[in-house]
Amino acid sequence: MPVIVDPESETLARLLEVLPAGGHGVEDPETLQAWLQNRPEEYAVVLGPHVALESALAISDGMRLTRPSTSVILLRDEVDTQVMREAMHAGTRDVVPAADAPAIMSAIDRAYQLYVALRGPGGVIHSGRIVTVFSPKGGVGKTTMAVNLALALTDKGARKVCLVDLDLAFGDVAITLQLFPSHSIEHAIGSEDSIDAPLLESLMTRHPDSLMVLAAPSHPDVRDRVSPTLISRVLRGLRETFDFIVVDTAPAFDEQTLTALDETDECVIVATLDVPTLKNVKVALETLEMLNIARDHRHLLLNRADDAVGLGPEKVEAILGMEVSARVATSMDIAAATNSGKPILSANPAHESSITIRELAETLTGQPEAPVAPAGLSGGSGGMAVDDDDDRSGRRFRMRR
Ligand SMILES: Nc1ncnc2c1ncn2[C@@H]1O[C@H](COP(=O)(O)OP(=O)(O)OP(=O)(O)O)[C@@H](O)[C@H]1O
Ligand SMILES: [Mg+2]
Repeated sequence: MPVIVDPESETLARLLEVLPAGGHGVEDPETLQAWLQNRPEEYAVVLGPHVALESALAISDGMRLTRPSTSVILLRDEVDTQVMREAMHAGTRDVVPAADAPAIMSAIDRAYQLYVALRGPGGVIHSGRIVTVFSPKGGVGKTTMAVNLALALTDKGARKVCLVDLDLAFGDVAITLQLFPSHSIEHAIGSEDSIDAPLLESLMTRHPDSLMVLAAPSHPDVRDRVSPTLISRVLRGLRETFDFIVVDTAPAFDEQTLTALDETDECVIVATLDVPTLKNVKVALETLEMLNIARDHRHLLLNRADDAVGLGPEKVEAILGMEVSARVATSMDIAAATNSGKPILSANPAHESSITIRELAETLTGQPEAPVAPAGLSGGSGGMAVDDDDDRSGRRFRMRR
């Protein structure tokens, strides 16, 4: 799907409406480069009217030989012959007036045709990874961690990330992000057989930090009408356009959660330092094992890990038979950030918990995230070895049901 670059967020939002469903917006050329590295199948780069001509020509010239199957389309408020000549010389495929939506669409179509001609109709099939944040206990911090992890995974717009609220009765992802969704997964009920990118896009709400949110229904009774088939089709559809799909779940092994777990590539299990939670997490881990869900791709996140309750991380590891992957301490800053609608990762990127969550994101992507200023704070997590399994795409674990 095409990526559009423009430093002005209003222009970016307007142009994204013109682009085909699944288009992605970034504000600067550096993020574009990071995006392109993650996306070998990108077929069009649209450079908006506020990208300086010099910078646009440099991008185009750089991509001319390195990415010949990706077309650069330059938008200008006014197109004159001089701009045209320079752009063509730099290898830009099209120069189009920024206000001419049909011309932009037609340039994107041509870019796609060229891509197919050069790469073959299959091209490189995109398959995003599903990260499910789960705990059998309520109130342990699943939503807090899911929201912050999703923000970390975007890497400031370099990756396309969707956050799905599958706590279908009492989901609070939207409110946590101060979003007011007009649509939710509820609006796909009955469309199980026709889930595609435009439909999915119409259900989502855009968060300013390069994150798309598929909100939970606004009424709890809708939950029972969201079938497992709908959930698995939605998640598979999202794989096609997103790099990562982070799923927040209800504290239960209900049908919907099991369906999401069945599609999961990476499972983040949230636990806290209290015996009832640990008992339930142990049972949950045994269930995941029995169902062969995300084996070797389970990550134990200990939240409120500093609570002085006589149980340390070592004891937790002994009880659960699993290494603690990340530890987040209790912090008023986390709760205050959530309450202000700006999660800690955005509100305070240098906070110890933000660093821990970014480290967890790095483990999930296998790539270091861009550093955050001010630098110098040391990490706060237990750390994890990066899994060197390079077959990270596609569904590998199926439940026997
Ligand atoms: N490390 C932390 N330090 C301080 N407060 C925290 C921390 N983690 C979570 N919280 C707070 O705890 C409360 C519950 O967190 P959250 O909603 O993320 O839990 P949950 O597991 O999603 O709950 P539910 O099962 O009800 O969906 C929130 O008010 C959140 O701000
Ligand atoms: Mg929650």
